[in-house]
Amino acid sequence: MDKTQWNERIKLIEGALVEELEENKALDPRLCESMKYSLTAGGKRLRPILVMAAADAVGAKGTDYIHIACALEMIHTYSLIHDDLPAMDNDDYRRGKLTNHKVYGDGTAILAGDALLTQAFEVILRQDNVPADVLVKVVREIAQGAGPNGMVGGQSIDLEAEGKQQVMNIDDLRKMHGAKTGALFRAAIRSGAIVAGATAEELAALTKYADCFGLAFQITDDILDVVGDEAVIGKPVGSDERNEKSTYVTLTSLDEAKKLASDTVSEAVRALEMFGEKATFLRELVEYLLDRNK
Ligand code: IPE
Ligand code: IPE
Ligand code: MG
Ligand code: MG
Ligand code: MG
Repeated sequence: MDKTQWNERIKLIEGALVEELEENKALDPRLCESMKYSLTAGGKRLRPILVMAAADAVGAKGTDYIHIACALEMIHTYSLIHDDLPAMDNDDYRRGKLTNHKVYGDGTAILAGDALLTQAFEVILRQDNVPADVLVKVVREIAQGAGPNGMVGGQSIDLEAEGKQQVMNIDDLRKMHGAKTGALFRAAIRSGAIVAGATAEELAALTKYADCFGLAFQITDDILDVVGDEAVIGKPVGSDERNEKSTYVTLTSLDEAKKLASDTVSEAVRALEMFGEKATFLRELVEYLLDRNK
């Protein structure tokens, strides 16, 4: 795919993320530094990109929703900081740098995550070109996607399943993935669609796309945990095996996981039919998952 638009938007998002922090600076400089450390460490910025791309697909201008986009990235970054903690996956590298707790200690890393999560909701409310009643819907989408019935719920199931590979089946795994990874992608895409004034039919199609995107994304994340190049992905490979996680690779096989990812991407592309050319970027983005190396 042509990555020009993606790269331009990454630049826009990264500038905006720093501004969001400056706008309401953390009381404690160390906390401030720790939040900024993880937020500016790079990453693919997929969730904010998807907020904008969904709005584009519905005929609006994605870049008009930069605050909502930034909020999604702040929540995602918080989830990564906590996911890497010793009490969870216990990983030392993330986005090519030492993990937050390795630099600032567990306590500050926990607080940086808490701070990014709560500040994200204030950042959503900075989106003053969106009517208040619509913004309320967006807050609900994002809170549900991030919360106990979404990302946090999935993380909890993941954590409990550690070391119990024999009791997880593929349906459990799909449910767990749908929550831990899918729910935030769903919230990003639905939020972009909602602010852009999507019809019920458009919202349903984009939700279908989002669910497939999330699933394909996590299958490829599991694959990369086995075959990825640490220097490229910027996080350790073999983390899932070390933590005895059930993944698509352990429950099926590398080849079957690849096949499932590919089928899921085709399903996502089919869901975009009604949008025609306006969804070109969304289509290319989900197709890119199949040969991503980071
Ligand atoms: C990694 O997400 C965590 C999962 C949900 C599997 P990304 O692969 O989007 O991480 P970054 O933002 O690019 O670092
Ligand atoms: C965690 O999944 C996804 C989150 C909600 C943070 P993983 O534990 O597989 O993510 P990575 O592989 O560490 O990025
Ligand atoms: Mg994890
Ligand atoms: Mg992890
Ligand atoms: Mg992983």
